[in-house]
Amino acid sequence: MEFFLSFAGPAKQRTDCAIVGVYDKGVLSAAAEELDKRIDGRIARLVKRGDLRGKTGDLVLLADLSGAPVERVVVVGLGGRNTFKRKQYRKALASALAAVARTGAKDAVSYLGLDGVGDTDTYAMTRVAVEVAANSQYRIADHKTSNKRQKPSLVKLGIAIAGRGERGNAERAIEHAQGIVAGMSLMRNLANEPANFCTPGYLAKAARTLAREHRKIRVRVLNEAECRRLQMGSFLSVTNGTEEPAYLIVLEYRNGARGEAPTALIGKGVTFDTGGISLKPPPAMDEMKFDMSGAASVLGTFKAIATLDLPINLVGVVPTCENMPSGRATKPGDIVKSMSGQTIEVLNTDAEGRLILCDAITYARRFKPDVVIDIATLTGACVVALGNHLSGLFSNDDDLAATLEEAGRRADDRAWHLPIGEEYTEQLKSNFADFANVAGREGGAITAACFLSKFTDGLKWAHLDVAGTAYQGGSQKGSTGRPVPLLVDYLLNK
Ligand code: BES
Ligand code: MN
Ligand code: ZN
Repeated sequence: MEFFLSFAGPAKQRTDCAIVGVYDKGVLSAAAEELDKRIDGRIARLVKRGDLRGKTGDLVLLADLSGAPVERVVVVGLGGRNTFKRKQYRKALASALAAVARTGAKDAVSYLGLDGVGDTDTYAMTRVAVEVAANSQYRIADHKTSNKRQKPSLVKLGIAIAGRGERGNAERAIEHAQGIVAGMSLMRNLANEPANFCTPGYLAKAARTLAREHRKIRVRVLNEAECRRLQMGSFLSVTNGTEEPAYLIVLEYRNGARGEAPTALIGKGVTFDTGGISLKPPPAMDEMKFDMSGAASVLGTFKAIATLDLPINLVGVVPTCENMPSGRATKPGDIVKSMSGQTIEVLNTDAEGRLILCDAITYARRFKPDVVIDIATLTGACVVALGNHLSGLFSNDDDLAATLEEAGRRADDRAWHLPIGEEYTEQLKSNFADFANVAGREGGAITAACFLSKFTDGLKWAHLDVAGTAYQGGSQKGSTGRPVPLLVDYLLNK
């Protein structure tokens, strides 16, 4: 979809569809009021008849408007004037765009932000609008043989903003949002693909494709033999049970000052997690195809950053494999040696994410990164703690954690800072190795983070547990594209 800025006002701007809002108690927004004068007070009459009460997202479509510069009008409820904030703005716009999509309109103009959206500035308001609109056209690249994919008819969306003085900020917002959505779409496409298509080799190929599309991205794919030479005994222990080859994908984006320390992103790429010998129960096991969401978010973030041509240095390390049971699989009680030299007693083969991430973190040290962030669908315990709304955020540096939390708030992709610490780390003790890979049920998201922290000495590190946020289950099953918005926002502000 294309975007443009509209300064004309709804009484003058020609369009296939104007989107205007009504607050609760039937209070017309300024734009609705202005437009209403050109269409014989039809909006006011709707309100008077009680057909539109202004509840957030409720809507009415008006067509056959003679004399107006608009073909159609979507009138959408915005809720209370004082409670109209970013969340309501998102909801109202999404619902209006769904209505527009049911018409044949090729272009539309949204006036929903014109009266202000809480204390959101023009940049943030425009970024939200473009993100919502572009994401509304995302379709799962499904494997259905019946329905032929129809191109959406809406190709152009105008966003009305108040003053021409804000043009620069709004244009920057459009660009940033388009980069973010490009990254989210890549992540979603990869994560939605089933595990018999999206194998570790498939992810490696996707990384190569990315490097071909963007000159500033370079990729190197290490195979198992190379990982063995690097003594990644922990990573390799997870792939023992499968026939599918594992890879360590290494991405480099160099567009910052020469010699400037890069940010390192590390993504869990388990393309299917059966649990291994510690086999998972059948219900919802299909959702473990999403266990490579961290990896997909790293590729998505690279896509966004390269699209935006950000002047930064970024490296990505993606360990990718399957976690399967078989005669060769790692067994509970087996002891493995990580690349760091530390030994690990694998008490539960279903706690595999941390086993592949720890070697990737150690590998990332060769780039001398100033910050290391790993992203992983790491624990069910994190979903128990935070539900599906916020990602878990852990760090050995409180400033970094605060910065990432702030990025999540700005991007409407929030994370919650949870603790790590000695008390929890002690729960990992083992009689047979340096430590174990699990520590019992209590505080499971935290002990997982503490396991990773054993590999981060001297690094400024943060860990995002996205088990609850990277994908949805149920009737809306699919990847959400999170936490690409948080990560890109963080890098935009770095
Ligand atoms: N991939 C799972 C975590 C997960 C669970 C993600 C539910 C999304 C939804 C991870 O590998 C795992 O199995 N973790 C175990 C750890 C436990 C054995 C300590 C878990 O959360 O049960
Ligand atoms: Mn697991
Ligand atoms: Zn897993």
